[in-house]
Amino acid sequence: MANSMHYGDYLQLDKILQAQTMESDKQNKSAHDEMLFIIIHQAYELWFKQLLHEADSIMAIMKKPAVNDNSPELQTVVHRLARMTSILKLLVHQIDIMETMTPMDFLDFRDMLRPASGFQSWQFKLLEAKLGLKYAHRHGQEYYISQLRQPQIDAIQLAEKEVSLVELLNQWLERMPFFDEKENWKNYKTVTSPEKNKHPFWVDYRNIYIQSLADPEKNNQQFYDEVFETETSSEGRQLSPKANRAALFIMLYRGYPMLQLPFQILNYLLEIDEQLSTWRYRHMSMVHRMIGTRIGTGGSSGRDYLRGALEKHSIFSEIARLTSFLIERRRLPQLSPEMERRLGFVSPPTP
Ligand code: HEM
Repeated sequence: MANSMHYGDYLQLDKILQAQTMESDKQNKSAHDEMLFIIIHQAYELWFKQLLHEADSIMAIMKKPAVNDNSPELQTVVHRLARMTSILKLLVHQIDIMETMTPMDFLDFRDMLRPASGFQSWQFKLLEAKLGLKYAHRHGQEYYISQLRQPQIDAIQLAEKEVSLVELLNQWLERMPFFDEKENWKNYKTVTSPEKNKHPFWVDYRNIYIQSLADPEKNNQQFYDEVFETETSSEGRQLSPKANRAALFIMLYRGYPMLQLPFQILNYLLEIDEQLSTWRYRHMSMVHRMIGTRIGTGGSSGRDYLRGALEKHSIFSEIARLTSFLIERRRLPQLSPEMERRLGFVSPPTP
């Protein structure tokens, strides 16, 4: 078979396996661990590519004017978010391998790398931007694109201008129809006093929540109102009150069939944030172990810069903070029978 597919050709292994050129070899200074250093970074970049591929496909589905919740689309989103989470866990574990290199092994070739640095991983910055990290919220803004090449800067800035995954999440949550459909609440039994122009469910929820607060937590009431009721946008806010209410509702009533996939979406987004933060933390600790308090090859303050990014670059923190507003299951308002049906499996039409 003259034209049969070959493993090595298909994977272009001739290119990939020729792509580990050691600077130490070129300079005739032996540095055994440079091979590991190159391969680890290349493996990271390949996985970043896969993460971008998954993120793009998820965003393409969520960009549709209305995601069909009753179709495989939402399942696909969940499945791919789950895959992203697994990849990120692997990326965290890869640090274990990197750490088998000792600081002295690193010193054998570290100076040959200057001024190259992880700063120049444009795929990493592109991923952050696509997920929803805006320039205004970046730590170390002076560095963030200063060492990149123009086409890479253009790609990141374009991603910042385009709608991000957090913004798509906001739009999707805002479209959750249950509270706009009056017929879902016809037989809802209010458990506290109704308030004019407010949905009875949310009036109840707010009251029950406030009653549940211990004295030292009383200022959470103001925080609750800011998150779920105040329309004015505050600095750094990515989710509107309506979207926050939808997300909280999904968390509270996730046991109903209609809310199971939406709950998994929220949960995986939190997991992605957590894994990214874990990676940042492990990378920062590794950097400290490797170079102490010396500056990075990219010229930043090294560990201190990385700590700032760790603290500031969380993307889905607004979902994470919703746990402050949960109440015990047994105190949840009982949904109306119509709403219970709406959130259940669709029953077959009666003949
Ligand atoms: C010996 C191992 C490593 C050391 C000592 C190290 C050191 C550093 C330092 C000091 C910085 C801050 C920028 C600078 O001044 O250069 C940095 C940034 C970065 N490094 Fe590493 N690094 C190591 C391994 C890795 C690996 C394996 C990856 C995987 C891709 C990586 C990815 C990054 C990224 C993406 C940044 C930018 C982070 C941000 O701006 O938030 N590094 N690294």
